[in-house]
Amino acid sequence: MKVGVARETAPGERRVALVPDAIDKLRAADISVLVERGAGEAAAFPDDSYVEADARVVTTPTLYASSDIILRIHRPTPAELKATHPGQVIIGMLAPLLDPQAMAEMANLQLTTISLDAIPRTISRAQAMDALSSQANVGGYKAVLIAAESFGRFFPLLTTPAGTAKPAQVLVLGVGVAGLQAIATARRLGAQVKAYDVRRETKEQVESLGAQFVTLTSVTDATGEGGYARALTAGELAAQQAELNDIIATQDVVITTAQVPGRRPPILVTGAAVEAMGPGSIIIDMAASELGGNCELSNPDKVTITANGVEIHAPTNLPSSMPTGASTFYSRNISNLLLSFVKAGELRLDFDDPVIAATVITHGGKVVQEATRKLLQPTPRGGVKA
Ligand code: NAI
Repeated sequence: MKVGVARETAPGERRVALVPDAIDKLRAADISVLVERGAGEAAAFPDDSYVEADARVVTTPTLYASSDIILRIHRPTPAELKATHPGQVIIGMLAPLLDPQAMAEMANLQLTTISLDAIPRTISRAQAMDALSSQANVGGYKAVLIAAESFGRFFPLLTTPAGTAKPAQVLVLGVGVAGLQAIATARRLGAQVKAYDVRRETKEQVESLGAQFVTLTSVTDATGEGGYARALTAGELAAQQAELNDIIATQDVVITTAQVPGRRPPILVTGAAVEAMGPGSIIIDMAASELGGNCELSNPDKVTITANGVEIHAPTNLPSSMPTGASTFYSRNISNLLLSFVKAGELRLDFDDPVIAATVITHGGKVVQEATRKLLQPTPRGGVKA
């Protein structure tokens, strides 16, 4: 069995799907590794480091022609898809729910696609494969470092002969994996941290990290399916924004991470809230994307400085800004998933296994994963459309 590690071509992407350290374990399962030339370079894993770990560095055409399985971060581009061959397996963060049509096209190419972002997060065996969590951890950590770097004052309480500096007031909105890591990191830097989430179970998690949970009267609990939040009604959201506005005005740093699966992220920091913040305050909107973010004034991948001196960062790919650490985590996730269905050099997909049933998106020329299939509707011509 040959596994190929692709070089990512998405703009700004510096991560690589497999790092040299992982190769030993794969070899023990009769898997040999091919690496596309330069694949790990931007993550500080030069080609030589793969060769030393006993992988073979190859050209792009050889990688796609010779690999049984391709490991990636992002979905392949149309040009990369042209280089694939029927029966090939593609594993990565394929975002099937964001673009089901792209998955249908991969099914038409007879590709078996397996998406790491579809890992069932509550199955304990799957936690070691949960790339959404591993990358959210990197993002939550880096968001705080960017805030601390941009903030013109100190995070900790500092007592010096030149006077005392008060600790920074940090508010984290949305306490999933990224939010919890942001709280822990801001606390380690000495900030006074408050946090808020619509899922009530997060109160205890926030307090266990030494932060203060913010309780709003407008929305007491909006826990949805699968441990995620449900979307708020327009009325709930407006009431929540109004209540948050007063709290945001008193903060030095606001880090937002709120997401609702399959929806545009909710606006938690309105333009009016930003206007009420003091000069030099920092907002890091981790939910930012082309769809929008948690802050009304976010511009994806840009830093906006408002007229009242608030700096708004809207990074869309924080894990890529820590490529070595993020790739090392991702590599463990993808190796664990791979080793769960490659036995003695053979691919064995057992669709009774809930991890396989949830993560295999296309197989045998069809979109087989239920959630993605539901988003595709038959057209009069017999094709499929999103
Ligand atoms: P996410 O990225 O989907 O969302 C981040 C946070 O935003 C969530 O905590 C959500 O409740 C919150 N949020 C949504 N709308 C909001 C609003 N209007 N106001 C305030 N907060 C809002 O979440 P993530 O990090 O992907 O985690 C999702 C769930 O999966 C969590 O329950 C997490 O604990 C769970 N999980 C469980 C694991 C396990 O059981 N081992 C592993 C990983 C995640």
